[in-house]
Parts: sequence; structure tokens; C-alpha cells
Amino acid sequence: MSKERSDHKELSRRRLLAYSLFATLAALFVSIGKVSFSFIVPRKRDDAYGGIIKAGGLNDMPAPADDPVYVPKGRFWLVHSESGLSAFHSSCTHLNCRFSWDVQKGVFICPCHGSEFSRVGQVLKGPAERDLSRFPLRVIQNDDLVVEPFTESGDPLAVQKYLIEQPAQQAENDGSSASLLYRIEVDTSRIIGGATASDDKA
Ligand code: FES
Repeated sequence: MSKERSDHKELSRRRLLAYSLFATLAALFVSIGKVSFSFIVPRKRDDAYGGIIKAGGLNDMPAPADDPVYVPKGRFWLVHSESGLSAFHSSCTHLNCRFSWDVQKGVFICPCHGSEFSRVGQVLKGPAERDLSRFPLRVIQNDDLVVEPFTESGDPLAVQKYLIEQPAQQAENDGSSASLLYRIEVDTSRIIGGATASDDKA
């Protein structure tokens, strides 16, 4: 074999090695990039805390005079007031203990340092200074149509007109469960902080 031919073969072998090394490194960087990205931007999980929670059909929501209802998978309390439906994060705005609803007193009470909040989330008694945090809610029709989008402010969602519509629509559809028109979803990826007394004065 001539020296020129053997040099050529050697060169081709080195090129092949360089290409395969390059391809391996590229694949490695892509995999590392994917893993890092998933850490930096965690995927929102459906129907679990941190994502969008299916809170239930509109008929399952508490009525305006009812006690608040706790939804464990979303870590929020659903409250129906005159202004509409709210979803309050279950962490106390003092030091994040989990508060609960006191049926006798009709207020939320935190077991850690005794803060109390009204059913519409306002601080009644410290040491907490900030009203309860809330999550935005929306109304979905027939499983995929958004009829009331998430509100940026997290203000109570007025659902009364859907409650009035729903029984009539259900009767039209023979009252089957498939005819359940409206349901409520809560976005637990966005916590909207409550106001303080000084915010209210500003
Ligand atoms: S953590 Fe709730 S009162 Fe302190």
C-alpha cells in the first residue's frame, strides 16, 4: 500500500471519529438542555396543585350562604359570597400555617398564632396583616369552552347567571349527567396576594 493511500485512510478514520464524537456531544448537550429547561420552567400539571384544578360542576359549588368548601388537591377554600365565587389559598398570610374554617364562629382561624379572616378573606384579627391570597377562577362550558376567563385580579367570579341557566339546559337534555353544562376551574399556578390595611388607604 502506498504511503499516500495509507495517509488518506488514516485521515478518513480520524474524520469519522471526529464526526461520531461531535454527534455524541451534541446529543448529550440536547439532553442536558432538556433536563435543565424542565427544572427552570416546571411543567404545569393538570388537576394538581401548581396547575389548573377542576374544582367541580357549578351545582357542586357552595351556595352563597353555605360554609366554605376545602379542595385538598388545589389547597384552596371555595367561598361563595354575594359578589361571586372565590378560591382562597389555604396558607395563612402571616407565616404560612394552614388555617381552617370555624363553623361556630363563621371565620377562618389560623392555629399557629390565632389570626382570623372573614369569609371574604379580610383580616379580622392579627398578627396577619394581609388579607387571604386567592387564585383566579373560570367557568367552562361543555368541557372545553371558556365562557368566563380567569380574572387577572382574582376578584370573585359572578356565576349566578350560569346557575340560573343550568337547570333549564339540563332539562332540555333529559337531565343526563353528560348534560352538565358548566364547571369551575381554578388556576393554582398564579397566587394573587391579598391587600393590607395600608393598601386600602392608598
Ligand atoms: S401563621 Fe397564621 S397566625 Fe401566624
